Amino acid sequence: MRLNAYLARAGVVSRRGADELIKDGRVLVNGAPGQLNTFVGAHDRVEVDGKPVAKQKLAHLLLYKPAGVVTTASDPQGRRTVVELVPREPRVVPVGRLDADTTGALLLTNDGQLAHRLAHPRYEVEKIYEAELESEPTDEALRALAEGVELEDGRTAPAKARRLGPRLIELSIHEGRKHQVKLMCAAVGHPVVRLHRSRYAELDLSGLAPGEWRELSFAEVETLRRLPE
Ligand code: URA
Repeated sequence: MRLNAYLARAGVVSRRGADELIKDGRVLVNGAPGQLNTFVGAHDRVEVDGKPVAKQKLAHLLLYKPAGVVTTASDPQGRRTVVELVPREPRVVPVGRLDADTTGALLLTNDGQLAHRLAHPRYEVEKIYEAELESEPTDEALRALAEGVELEDGRTAPAKARRLGPRLIELSIHEGRKHQVKLMCAAVGHPVVRLHRSRYAELDLSGLAPGEWRELSFAEVETLRRLPE
């Protein structure tokens, strides 16, 4: 991973602060001054002001994101962020994004390799959403959601869509485009009024209340690592 991300994940400074340290020549990688584009692997030795940067224990947390909290590490508008709901150490970042008004399952980790893998469309992590719609969807609308709808950035991949109640549907998608579920539902004539992610890969929210988090078990992390390509 990039040197600034490495320093941020190690809890030394924020990513921007890391850029300043690097530019000031205070960061050495294997004895040589690090550059902004230096890549750091598990076996590299990183020092700041001559002190070795301790490798952080990997953390994988599942958060039940409540509404009104933004999915970012820091918000310029000063809104509450998801990272404020989990322990500060080790520093973790969200994998992917839920809109501020969306609730549900959000993974946070400092495991850069896994985060990168999960965020890559090739791995097709299944995400299940419950969407309350403005109006009762027709069978045709559900079929269109499942077959794929045309959005500005192209057609959506096949999905699973089923009715849970008169205005409530469950949508299972593998992509992670910005505002994807809201855009898909709006495109078939049924804007979303409430959105909840009930599952991320094999992880559901059982045992968690909004705002609560838990650590993933070793077996859960291994399952995420072994998701098929
Ligand atoms: N799709 C959306 O529109 N919003 C989310 O928060 C997640 C998926």
